[in-house]
Amino acid sequence: MAEIVGGVGCSHVPAVGAALDNGKSGNEVWKPYFDTLPPAREWIEEKKPDVCIVVYNDHASAFSMQLIPTFTLGVAPEFQPADEGFGPRKVPTVEGDPDLAWHLAESLILDEFDMTIANEMDVDHGLTVPLSVMFGQPENWPTKVIPLAVNVVQFPPPTGHRCYMLGKALRRAIDSYPGAERVVVFGTGGMSHQLQGERAGLVNSEWDSQFMDNLVSNPAEQAQVPHVEYLREAGTEGVELVMWLIMRGAMNDSVEEVYRSIYVPTSNTSNGLIVLDNA
Ligand code: DHB
Ligand code: FE
Repeated sequence: MAEIVGGVGCSHVPAVGAALDNGKSGNEVWKPYFDTLPPAREWIEEKKPDVCIVVYNDHASAFSMQLIPTFTLGVAPEFQPADEGFGPRKVPTVEGDPDLAWHLAESLILDEFDMTIANEMDVDHGLTVPLSVMFGQPENWPTKVIPLAVNVVQFPPPTGHRCYMLGKALRRAIDSYPGAERVVVFGTGGMSHQLQGERAGLVNSEWDSQFMDNLVSNPAEQAQVPHVEYLREAGTEGVELVMWLIMRGAMNDSVEEVYRSIYVPTSNTSNGLIVLDNA
């Protein structure tokens, strides 16, 4: 059967993608941040996943106010980087895995998670920046990718508990796939950030570290935390962190924390990365 070999929690700060795309990752501003990444990159290179399931959010690129699905699974053979206003990022086309993705759709829907199915979906910084963080700038992405988009932009987003339960259903789906795929699940977005309004620039690293501690050791408890705590402590866009609970739900109850960092500033938000092993 297919096997989940690890999980990654990763912010999706667009400036990180722009720094790489514009050849600035080695300059004095960016080098200290990019110097934090090698342990995570070495881990995923050693794990040799065949497929990454990337739980992420679209920012009105593939979707819009006309259509706001809560959970969307991408089943296409490929996904193009989205044009977010400055042209698409110059990163490789994302190659999908239709066979596994359709299996996930069937398993999740029959398991009572009503996924929207996307045969065509451009992917924005929410998906491509975490790939850049973990894989750098390859000619082609080294794994297939199944996008799982979550609405966290238009309220109400799904609860942390619903996300955690979806992760567990994802685990059952992967466990029942008759392939030999090695799978890494990414939960992306966050950490604390408030992009607009009076509290713009809010960074609460103490709360972010506590979120990571709970994610590792008390995920079921973290899943009970209501949206209003994310908003109050981590800013309106901090609610993106519920997506990390989908990743965590797909992992073993007990996981090994391989790596973590919380880096500020790469923008006016908190940039977090955590790597969990299903040891
Ligand atoms: C930033 C973070 C986001 O999640 C986003 O969608 C846009 C910008 C930022 O850190 O600047
Ligand atoms: Fe975002």
